[in-house]
Amino acid sequence: MEVIVQASTEQATQLCAQVIAQRLRHNPDLILGLATGRTMERVYQQLVQLHHQQGLDFARCRTFNLDEYIGLAANHPNSYRYYMHQQLFRHVNIDPANTHIPDGMATDLAAEATRYEALIHDLGGIDLQLLGIGEAGHIGFNEPLSALLSRTRDKTLTPTTRRQNAAMFDGDPTKVPSRALTMGVGTILDARELILLVTGAAKAAILARAVEGPITAMVSASAIQLHPHCIVIADAAAASELQGREYYDWVFQNEPEWAEFRP
Ligand code: GLP
Repeated sequence: MEVIVQASTEQATQLCAQVIAQRLRHNPDLILGLATGRTMERVYQQLVQLHHQQGLDFARCRTFNLDEYIGLAANHPNSYRYYMHQQLFRHVNIDPANTHIPDGMATDLAAEATRYEALIHDLGGIDLQLLGIGEAGHIGFNEPLSALLSRTRDKTLTPTTRRQNAAMFDGDPTKVPSRALTMGVGTILDARELILLVTGAAKAAILARAVEGPITAMVSASAIQLHPHCIVIADAAAASELQGREYYDWVFQNEPEWAEFRP
């Protein structure tokens, strides 16, 4: 794992977008795992900008989103399908047929989860999975006690998560769906590379537990410690409780692979 700390939120999101863009330029057939949430909005804006200004090409890119609320239709303004359309898909040259999100309206959720897993497998697996972290320590919607080998399935959301996401539902946690379909922790760990992006002081404590604490199903994000190719990008506020900052900064300043991303 490498932890890269950037002074501002803008720099952190920009670095995240630049890494994604570099991987896409290197492999136009990239299978890209996507995440939702407020943290990612600026990343998608920056990818859209790179598409318009530098011709970043999504024509052959295929995407898989981490999760979707159960019971929200694709055209519901709070569904993650709608979010992805608004934030990214409608602004770039991606083929909608190449964008995959679990169907939260499926009548047979287990069958939908199996279909989703099979599709990821059949297309060759995810090259790069983008991740955010919830205040409950989740990646995707893998709430505390999610098995570290779990696969795509439906999951009940914690009160913490429903409160955290209430802002998008008129501030009312009871309007946040109580369940979601989510890639499992095991599904996420199968991706060939992970990027976890974390910004803001509210995430400082949970980020420290995820990166430097013990691997535990209580903090599903701590499972990234098992992954051989994982980058964590944080702004200074989110990184404020990390113990190993001096070493992390040295790596970013000195490792050749980061040379093209240094200011
Ligand atoms: C939701 C998503 C997560 C995301 C989290 C963080 O719960 N399922 O994938 O990481 O939100 O959201 P935000 O970026 O708004 O803090």
